[in-house]
Amino acid sequence: MTGQPRLAVALGDGGDPALARRLAASLSLPLLSQPGDDLELLLLVDAAGPALRPLGPGASGPVRCRFDDAALRHRRRGGHNEAIGRALAVGRTPGARIIDGTGGFARDAFVLADLGAEVTVCERQPVLAALLAEALAAAAGADDPWLREVAGRLQLVAADVRTLPAETLAAADALYLDPMFPLGGKRAASGKAMTVLQYLLDDDETSAGGLVEWALAQPVRRVVVKRPRRAPPLGGRRPSHSLPGRAVRFDVYPNPDHDKTQRE
Ligand SMILES: C[S@@+](CC[C@H](N)C(=O)[O-])C[C@H]1O[C@@H](n2cnc3c(N)ncnc32)[C@H](O)[C@@H]1O
Repeated sequence: MTGQPRLAVALGDGGDPALARRLAASLSLPLLSQPGDDLELLLLVDAAGPALRPLGPGASGPVRCRFDDAALRHRRRGGHNEAIGRALAVGRTPGARIIDGTGGFARDAFVLADLGAEVTVCERQPVLAALLAEALAAAAGADDPWLREVAGRLQLVAADVRTLPAETLAAADALYLDPMFPLGGKRAASGKAMTVLQYLLDDDETSAGGLVEWALAQPVRRVVVKRPRRAPPLGGRRPSHSLPGRAVRFDVYPNPDHDKTQRE
């Protein structure tokens, strides 16, 4: 998807009108009662909260950003075997501080927080950042104590990860990147959520390669990059090792100079 998607906010059945107005105002989007033919994507506010709903023939159903869904609870059951946790060495350091530089729907960040990490989640796309803020607020006020506790370990920064202060990066145990996979690649098979992201994002392998170059130059202990299982390493940078996940792998780049840099 290139250029800005044609996007508007709409109020659906049982939706909170104040939330719809707030999202429309903060994102400078029109609030429509009837979606027109010229739209590609709706930010729909219905009884279940906000959702992104692609429009047009063959479009998928709505995608929600929320942390109380069955898929995340299912992932939780296998959680302590998750390759992502091992790649980021989350289990080894109690309260490990992770920066997730590519927040998206923060599903990976949530898994890391569930494993005990304190996660700073950066998301630069304003619509996604707004959905994440709503999802975090809902989880923080949920009845379920587990959800509240995990949400309490997630902190959202609605900005480009490259704007984080150097001290924040230096204090982190690891920086995690999950840039969009190439269109039509493995990511296409990875579900509705990533398909919807493609409406909103212009990211490509070149910009993702630039992001990894930036990450590897930061004063952070370790960088981990999620890749499709058979894809070449991002930016042609060979990792020290990789951990296979189900359909993906995690490329690990330790920074041997980190502690030295801190002492200088
Ligand atoms: C593939 S998605 C990440 C999915 C995420 N791991 C999850 O579990 O839901 C990539 C996200 O990174 C964001 N992104 C890409 N480059 C970024 C940057 N430099 N700073 C902050 N966010 C960025 C994009 O806007 C997009 O939402």
